[in-house]
Amino acid sequence: MTTPDYAEKIPNNVSLNDDRRLQRALESWQPNFLSWWESMGPTLPTRDVYLRTAVNVGREGWAHFGHVPMRDYRWGIFLAERSPDRRIAFGAHKGEPTWQKVPGEYRAELQRLIVIQGDTEPASVEQQRNLAAIAPSLYDMRNLFQVNVEEGRHLWAMVYLLHAYFGREGREEAEELLHRNSGSADAPRILGAFNEETPDWLSFFMFTYFTDRDGKYQLGTLKESGFDPLSRTCEFMLKEEAHHMMVGTTGVDRVVERTARVMVESDTDDVAALGAIPLAVIQKYLNFHYSVSLDLFGGETSTNVANYYTAGLKGRWLEERRKDDHTLADDSIMVDALLEGEIGQVEVSALTGLNTDLRREYIADCESGVKRWNRILSEAGLPHRLALPHVAFNRKVGAFAGIEASPVGERLSAAEWAARKGQWLPTDTDKTFVRSLMRPVHERGKIAAWLAPPRNGINGKPFDYDYVHLV
Ligand SMILES: [Fe+2]
Ligand SMILES: [Fe+2]
Repeated sequence: MTTPDYAEKIPNNVSLNDDRRLQRALESWQPNFLSWWESMGPTLPTRDVYLRTAVNVGREGWAHFGHVPMRDYRWGIFLAERSPDRRIAFGAHKGEPTWQKVPGEYRAELQRLIVIQGDTEPASVEQQRNLAAIAPSLYDMRNLFQVNVEEGRHLWAMVYLLHAYFGREGREEAEELLHRNSGSADAPRILGAFNEETPDWLSFFMFTYFTDRDGKYQLGTLKESGFDPLSRTCEFMLKEEAHHMMVGTTGVDRVVERTARVMVESDTDDVAALGAIPLAVIQKYLNFHYSVSLDLFGGETSTNVANYYTAGLKGRWLEERRKDDHTLADDSIMVDALLEGEIGQVEVSALTGLNTDLRREYIADCESGVKRWNRILSEAGLPHRLALPHVAFNRKVGAFAGIEASPVGERLSAAEWAARKGQWLPTDTDKTFVRSLMRPVHERGKIAAWLAPPRNGINGKPFDYDYVHLV
């Protein structure tokens, strides 16, 4: 473990200096990354931004804050510290020392897992590239840029693994990660939700709440990996991810808070004319982002994922806290299924049901968000409540992909769905309305009318701090 030197081209704590070949390979990828950032990253020109930069991984502080021009942001490679006696916690290799190199028999699977994770990181930057121009405040704009540069760093993290451990194929995959683009017709991103656009800030807050949270759970399973460099990489990424979760959680808080306030002050649900976002529209955006994020967990059952688990490549969320044998050979789980066309559940082996296990952890976490938003409504004295839609609602992947269901889980015919889906998912009118609110507020200390200010600023700074200097 070395202390990163910020005069180096690529700040890192992996002793890149000692491996000239790897260093040169990454240095030749670096300009391609930067030209990707220039052409696919944030479109609003800025002078500098008050950003957190990862500088170490230790307990005594791992980041520093300061105003930096974004093109000079020091994207680096940071792995959590190695614990020398770490052992594989699950699967057929349970109890064996973790691997410091890629085991030959799992090479293709590990590479695939890293590529899929790596593909999501730059995708979100692409999805969010036009949002700064319509930011509701400089504070929010700064948070957007923070999320963007860190997703860029997460791409670096995955590219490091590909370059360091997967030879020529790994280097080719690293190029492909810059070549595919969100929403592109000929080279789209791998997963569906990462090809949806993020055209407004309500979508951005929902995305960082629901879709980034999927990322948190995926990283949590890779953190358990027997391949130690992947585990340590994901452990450190989760640290940065916590801020993204905060942006989403408090972002939706503040939308709900503002709407509730306008509803109470004007004694009406119809707050659109008053410049706030009606709860019904917030619910539709929630329905959309939640359901597309559920799809990211894949089918209810998966033999691939069972094999990843048994091989020790990808564990469960908080694997070591589970009270079972960590091989799951004799266990079973109930998973969602269509039973003679009806929404129901069926018992399968715990190993093949691992996607369901992870999706359930995620759902429980999402419920905590809904709870806090409903607390805001109840504290405002309002009877209205938000809710997560049923797991069968608007699904494109898994057991319910072929059917339609309402948010409370009643099965619908295609015609009923077509007639009613505008009540549950954002319509063009809703989207146009939300877009119409997105007038930029780029003055220090000011905020858009549809959003409440945050309770706290960043790093102890006040809300009206000069978080971003525009050109
Ligand atoms: Fe990320
Ligand atoms: Fe993230």
